[in-house]
Amino acid sequence: MTDIADAAIDILRENDRGTYTVPTKGLYPFQWNWDSCLTALGQRHFDEGRAWTEIETLFAHQWPDGMVPHIVFHKPDDGYFPGPDVWATNRPVPTSGITQPAVAGFALRRLFDRAADRPEAADRARALLPKVAAWHRWFYETRDPAREGLVAIIHPWESGRDNSIDWDEPFARVPTEGIAPYTRRDTQHANPEHRPTKEQYDRYLWLVEHFRGLKWDTSKLHDASPFRVVDPGFNAILIRSAADLADLAETLGEQEIAAENRAFATRGAAAMESLWSDPHGQYLCRDRVTDALIDSRSVGGLLAAFAPIPAHRAARIAETIEGHGMRFRVASHAPDDPRFQSKRYWRGPTWLVVNYMIGDGLARAGQTDAAEAITRASLDLIRTSGFAEYYDPHTGEPLGGGRFTWTAAMVLEFLAMAD
Ligand code: DGY
Repeated sequence: MTDIADAAIDILRENDRGTYTVPTKGLYPFQWNWDSCLTALGQRHFDEGRAWTEIETLFAHQWPDGMVPHIVFHKPDDGYFPGPDVWATNRPVPTSGITQPAVAGFALRRLFDRAADRPEAADRARALLPKVAAWHRWFYETRDPAREGLVAIIHPWESGRDNSIDWDEPFARVPTEGIAPYTRRDTQHANPEHRPTKEQYDRYLWLVEHFRGLKWDTSKLHDASPFRVVDPGFNAILIRSAADLADLAETLGEQEIAAENRAFATRGAAAMESLWSDPHGQYLCRDRVTDALIDSRSVGGLLAAFAPIPAHRAARIAETIEGHGMRFRVASHAPDDPRFQSKRYWRGPTWLVVNYMIGDGLARAGQTDAAEAITRASLDLIRTSGFAEYYDPHTGEPLGGGRFTWTAAMVLEFLAMAD
């Protein structure tokens, strides 16, 4: 074990609340959906049982309709806004009312494939399979009403890339008037210059209040939202999870789940082609309200490599990343775009989870050099700058929260790959 492995394990233990892990103390004091699934991948390196528990806890709070919420508010904590009273989702344990990237299917398969305790892994994976399958079904039923094979997000927080340049245009359609007065807490924990703006927060909250007014009936929210965007990164994660869940279900003899998820993945992968842009050298978001592609070279369109995409597309994505010329790849936005901001959250900084998923996809697509370069840059970044939430892609300056859980988890994964 190297020093950074020990430091990573310390962080994962420190942020462990028993059955779930907080992303970091202070800034994010609850359980976040995709954070937890990726965190389990780190936990498996020192406590396999605990890794399964992380995902099981998340799914214990799945809604009856199949949605898995983006935050589970296990215990009250007024250090975070918007808390349970703002969401008002009326769940036994309070949760938010929107979802997050569906990385659980991928995480489940990886935990199962690499597990040392095979019988335990089979039991725990088998119990989670129908729950993850229900989430995937919910996505295609509620977020793809025209059955095009791609789902839309209805709130930027769902993408996980909260303030990406991708959302600037479609988000302008969301009003800011009429929301209840509020006090942000994030800017008390992290530098406001590195966080979303007030105007963006007003719009985040307008959407929350609008959905709350519709009583969180998730069958209505897609059509009722003025913000509906098809994000290639979000879809790639769902498609990859569907493909992985299909493989896992086959191994475990669950043929119906296997067939359903194989169909989601095949249809989704074919539909991804409609988001490719040759001039941009990557996939783009599509605004589902106007049906137009959004001219924004964010990392969402590179994260598409996490899905089974054609080999020539993966090769082009590898070139695009190389073309960014950033030491600590992968920047969350193309650095030559005038809207790029190297320190502001998802408008430029590097995030280790994104590096991990892009690297994994590129390696599968045969882009070994590009994948290895990402692993090296990621470990280099941690040795230079420690375990931050995100980083300046050029200088490596640590930004946002510190002692960050999923960053630590990804370090353990990268170290295992680099061995
Ligand atoms: C936040 O509060 O910044 C989160 O990203 C929303 O889930």
